Amino acid sequence: MLDQPLLQVRGLKKTFPIDGGRRLVAVDGVDLEIKAGETLALVGESGSGKSTVARCIVRLVEPTGGDVVIGGDSILGLQPSRLVGVYRRIQMVFQDPNASLNPRMSVRQVLEEPLHLHLYLLRSERDARVRELIEMVGLTPAHLDRYPHELSGGQRQRVGIARAIAVSPEIVILDEPTSSLDVSIRGQILDLLLELQERLHLAYLFITHDLQVVQHVAHRVAVMYLGGIVETGPTKELFADPRHPYTRALLSAAPVARWGVKRTRTRLSGEISSAIDPPDACRLAGRCPFARPSCSDARPPLTDIGGGRAVACPVVIERIPT
Ligand SMILES: Nc1ncnc2c1ncn2[C@@H]1O[C@H](COP(=O)(O)OP(=O)(O)O)[C@@H](O)[C@H]1O
Ligand code: SF4
Ligand SMILES: [Mg+2]
Repeated sequence: MLDQPLLQVRGLKKTFPIDGGRRLVAVDGVDLEIKAGETLALVGESGSGKSTVARCIVRLVEPTGGDVVIGGDSILGLQPSRLVGVYRRIQMVFQDPNASLNPRMSVRQVLEEPLHLHLYLLRSERDARVRELIEMVGLTPAHLDRYPHELSGGQRQRVGIARAIAVSPEIVILDEPTSSLDVSIRGQILDLLLELQERLHLAYLFITHDLQVVQHVAHRVAVMYLGGIVETGPTKELFADPRHPYTRALLSAAPVARWGVKRTRTRLSGEISSAIDPPDACRLAGRCPFARPSCSDARPPLTDIGGGRAVACPVVIERIPT
């Protein structure tokens, strides 16, 4: 089917048991969809559960519930031995490139490793692929014999990206790929990611808390707050007319392009609430200027409001003219 999403995340949950029999609910029923060649940005403040979503999708941590479907195949039920096939289709780039680069391996070895694991290539084919990869990320064959500590942060992230695309995946999860880099390098890495996406028709799940980056790279956005998606929609429409009180507060506080639309300031009071044994209520209820008593009755579902947009707040949905 032409319009079938490449990646579907359905009702994803991850709970971490902590001391005293309590539970930290890091991800609480997340639904996401990404089509081939598309970038979905996952945004939200630190601790909202973005990295845990990413790690559950690639099974670096085992989800507590829900499902992840790639190209129609559910991957959460697979035995670990069958995950190798999954990793040909989906790869991850980490915030800290050192996390994916073994300091004792040369760049050549770092790039050869996934080729050994996934593809049966002749020595000459493998050498050619490694040279192709290093050039695709803007480095030269001379970098292949260096070790990670002999590279700059930006060069290390380029190697991390080359490793992720080595086996030609369809989806790459990018977890804050530019946050650890100097500001002057960030733009170059973003441009590289955009160029590779176009050339290889990659789908990206782009995790970031930088809304300017979102405006630059994402077709669609999902806004996460304390384990749940509170709003999702096409980037331009969502930035021009944010609906959920949390999205409004996030954009009110950020230096983002206004894209010519009215913006009333929304401020939240108090601190982010705890993810430990949370009540079945809207997670924003203690901080939201629009809260009503009914907001503490149950967690509002993400509800379709048309135009490819969805919002998890019945109070603002009631006010949207039909
Ligand atoms: N291995 C773990 N054990 C216990 N708590 C964890 C673990 N990993 C993440 N968490 C908690 O889950 C929540 C979400 O974390 P994370 O997914 O890293 O958020 P984000 O990437 O949005 O900053 C946080 O409260 C964090 O402390
Ligand atoms: S459901 Fe209530 S508390 Fe939650 S965002 Fe909407 S108005 Fe605010
Ligand atoms: Mg994170």
